[in-house]
Amino acid sequence: MSAQFETIDTPSLCAIRASFLDFKQVVGQASDIVSQFRFIQDGLLVIQQGRILWFGEWQQGQHLYPDLAVTHYPDQWIVPGFIDTHIHYPQTEMIAAYGEQLLSWLEKYTFPVEMQFADKQYASEISRFFIQQLFSNGTTTALVFGSAHPQSVDALFEVAEEVNMRLIAGKVMMDRHAPAELCDTVESSYTDSKRLIEKWHGKGRLLYAITPRFAPTSTPEQLQAAQRLREEFPDVYVQTHLSENQAEIEWVKQLFPERKNYLDVYHHYGLTGERSVFAHGIHLCEDEWQCLSETQSSIAFCPTSNLFIGSGLFKLTEAWKHQVSVGMGTDVGGGTSFNILQTLNEAYKVMQLQGYSLSACEALYLATLGAAHALKLDDKLGNFAIGKEADFVVLDLEATPLQRLRQQHSGTVDEKLFALIMLGDDRNIYCTYVNGVLVHQRDTR
Ligand code: GUN
Ligand code: ZN
Repeated sequence: MSAQFETIDTPSLCAIRASFLDFKQVVGQASDIVSQFRFIQDGLLVIQQGRILWFGEWQQGQHLYPDLAVTHYPDQWIVPGFIDTHIHYPQTEMIAAYGEQLLSWLEKYTFPVEMQFADKQYASEISRFFIQQLFSNGTTTALVFGSAHPQSVDALFEVAEEVNMRLIAGKVMMDRHAPAELCDTVESSYTDSKRLIEKWHGKGRLLYAITPRFAPTSTPEQLQAAQRLREEFPDVYVQTHLSENQAEIEWVKQLFPERKNYLDVYHHYGLTGERSVFAHGIHLCEDEWQCLSETQSSIAFCPTSNLFIGSGLFKLTEAWKHQVSVGMGTDVGGGTSFNILQTLNEAYKVMQLQGYSLSACEALYLATLGAAHALKLDDKLGNFAIGKEADFVVLDLEATPLQRLRQQHSGTVDEKLFALIMLGDDRNIYCTYVNGVLVHQRDTR
């Protein structure tokens, strides 16, 4: 397993010249996404101490900082770093496990693998591998599940801190319906989460998420403990799963008969709201959509996982109708790729099956500024606005002979972007920059 990051010395004041694509502002309505799209054919991005100092046309910017060394990517496109709003790092090694749906998949593959994360040394090794995978796929920020072991989250944060990435993570809270080795208690889940929050939340670029796995694996008392944490630390995140699979939904009904629907379990314990991110939300009723909307909760749309585990088709247009913020999630290891281009490719197909053709522009928004908004980090991430954190990806549009042929026959930016999403994968990630520093360069691997 490779142990080192190829962080390449990057001066604290530097500039990049290339074509740039982003969105100027967060939109209220999905129909406004196109109007906020910005393509600068020959642009300049100036970075100082990890922040964007200047951004615009090369013609206008080239004389502003005379002694600046400019790195030129003449044939590449630069987009804001991809944001993965739902992923499990302990599941990295069991990605692509055959033939089960959610509940048996958890029993058969997930729980056994997560047990290994009691071992801090192992957790550190996988953390390093995991973050390397994110970077080589162009993902610069992620909202991540650890295992139930607090040391698994210490291990992940330690690596993220080393590379100064913006990462949100949390220890799974789970006190029932799982193997004893993976279960915590009401008390230990509270004190371990609290210790992790106090140690990591707001340290550098790191943030903490209270992480009850999903309603079936927490007792009401543990959900109360999660609520207490939320009340004591109101600016931390909450991440969990919601309405992914029909058998899961039936189970929640039996376990919480007094609640009017699945989301109401979380809402009852104060776990909805800004900075609450619910993965999946495939089978929601109108009441649940309204609750998500009123509480400004967000959804992580995880198409590769939803297809792979056979969970169903996420109704993105319902989310838009209810003005619920959505970001893309890979959901590795339920999802089958770390790569956000591949994830968008599957999102397109999920929407085609529902009679809606997702545009390339909408897709890119969901993976960048839209996802930043879903994480309430759009004041820091998601586009090239001055003052934002300099996380971005240099894309090679022609990484294979087929892509080259296809791109030679693509006319507009829109067409090129769409072909990139449909044909793209980690081969298209030419370079990844985090906090203004080059952390991945494809051709040196
Ligand atoms: N629901 C509860 N735990 C999990 C998990 O690890 N992955 C997915 N996809 N769904 C879950
Ligand atoms: Zn998940």
